[in-house]
Amino acid sequence: MRIAIGNDHAAVEMKLHVKAYLEQKGHEVIDFGSAEGERMDYPRPAEAVAKCVVSGGADRGILICGTGVGISIAANKVRGARCACVSEAVSAGLCRAHNDCRLIAFGARIVGVQTAESIVDTFLTTEFEGGRHARRVDMIMRLEQTQSCDE
Ligand code: RB5
Repeated sequence: MRIAIGNDHAAVEMKLHVKAYLEQKGHEVIDFGSAEGERMDYPRPAEAVAKCVVSGGADRGILICGTGVGISIAANKVRGARCACVSEAVSAGLCRAHNDCRLIAFGARIVGVQTAESIVDTFLTTEFEGGRHARRVDMIMRLEQTQSCDE
């Protein structure tokens, strides 16, 4: 798979670990995140990775900040992006199976490297189930068309 990855300065070490883990499994990784010693506010890699995935430049996106929270909120502002913030593998699978999330976020200050590996493994190998879940994902996408509280 072609995977876009992004991180802020709180998650450089975890990003490097996950990137090496994915490359060793044969994935191509496009890195939009901050490097060692570089400060980067999390909305920047969130936007870059989400736009890359939505435009078809990558199959999936992985986002890591301190908690996973800020970077997932920012990614979900990109139209068409669905990013789940998770801290274990069950949710990583269900966000694929039920929500068709092509982006996932987690926190380098929340999960350890083994949990991070199981999150990305499950996220990358679980397919969207469609059916009743597709109707709900369509409803989410319709929400993106109605931005005003008056509607
Ligand atoms: C950066 O210190 C931290 O706020 C950020 O990585 C993230 O946890 C925000 O949601």
